[in-house]
Amino acid sequence: MERLTVSLADRSYDIVIGSGCLADTGQLCRESGLRGRVAVVTNPSVGRLYFQPVLDVLRNAGYDVLKIELPDGEEYKTLATVNAVYTELIRNGFDRGCFLMALGGGVIGDITGFTAATFLRGVPFVQIPTTLLAQVDSSVGGKTGVNHELGKNLIGAFHQPRLVISDVETLSTLDARDFVSGLAEVVKYGIVFDVDFFSYLSANRDRLLLRQRDTLVHLVHRCCELKAHVVAQDEREAGVRAVLNYGHTLGHAVETLAGYDTYRHGEAVAIGMAQAAAISESYGHADHADTVRIVDLIRNLGLPAHLPPFTGEEYATVLLRDKKVREKGLTFVCNRGIGDFVFEHVSDVSSLLTRCGHGG
Ligand SMILES: NC(=O)c1ccc[n+]([C@@H]2O[C@H](COP(=O)([O-])OP(=O)(O)OC[C@H]3O[C@@H](n4cnc5c(N)ncnc54)[C@H](O)[C@@H]3O)[C@@H](O)[C@H]2O)c1
Ligand SMILES: [Zn+2]
Repeated sequence: MERLTVSLADRSYDIVIGSGCLADTGQLCRESGLRGRVAVVTNPSVGRLYFQPVLDVLRNAGYDVLKIELPDGEEYKTLATVNAVYTELIRNGFDRGCFLMALGGGVIGDITGFTAATFLRGVPFVQIPTTLLAQVDSSVGGKTGVNHELGKNLIGAFHQPRLVISDVETLSTLDARDFVSGLAEVVKYGIVFDVDFFSYLSANRDRLLLRQRDTLVHLVHRCCELKAHVVAQDEREAGVRAVLNYGHTLGHAVETLAGYDTYRHGEAVAIGMAQAAAISESYGHADHADTVRIVDLIRNLGLPAHLPPFTGEEYATVLLRDKKVREKGLTFVCNRGIGDFVFEHVSDVSSLLTRCGHGG
């Protein structure tokens, strides 16, 4: 079992990473000073697999547990679902002395975190991420929220968890496509922060895809360490935290144009990263050999790299939808070689498309 701390003064918390550490949930909550009743929020797919063992260990540690089961799917990441959770909590007499626990992927984590941020003006919550994306990204950093019918993640709050427990054992039941999609965010950390980690991923592709436990523990540990470091410097994304958006500018455009059902988030980000690599090269921040290494790793992991054939105009329209971008241009995250990053201010978004070789 490995442990990391996200250092944020009185909001600091531990991330516990291991294989089988779900069994320590009760004990870890006690050690973190969490008291009172706990509401475990999950969905049927994850609950069927992991709720019972979590319930057992929480009860053994003396906790009174309420299970709240939400329907599975991004389409339920809404205020209506949050409201349903409030209702359950109020009906069951939950007061300020309680805490919430998210048992599931990023969707459950975001909903539970936002509920915890707002219920009775804020109660503590614990993240038990069960997807690769949630273990390496969404469970750490305190961004919580839900979608609005006019856009994704538009309603939210910063609310740091009190504890994160990442058991890589849970990743064994993940759908292959969800697992590989999560690898895109892992590759992102290598590209912008750590060339040795990038090389490790390239060299250990087979172990990774076989979900070998030690490899997964190392990978989740390194990603959380890198994210924790950035979050500690810039909790509310006033500056450097924006580096985590590497690959996301064009990735989001791809998600929007293709429709959210066509690509998984990580697949769209993989495409965005391959384009960002070419764009970084065209700015002179990286060599062609770096672009080739990045695109090769993306493809070797089974992720897409090719920009889907929407017109330059369609891409530009989506990129310019944000008023701030129309007026001031956008901050584009480039890789500097591999293992470092640099922000580029882009006033003409269509130049981005030319730079990544999009015909028009
Ligand atoms: N808060 C943040 O900082 C942040 C960062 C990145 C992404 N996100 C959000 O995360 C969400 C995506 O998260 P996700 O990719 O984890 O999707 P998800 O939560 O929808 O999980 C994907 C699927 O896997 C299932 N599942 C989860 N764990 C499983 C397991 N161990 N075994 C079998 N099936 C399992 C889920 O029920 C779901 O059907 C998006 O809503 C995105 O906006 C948030
Ligand atoms: Zn992402």
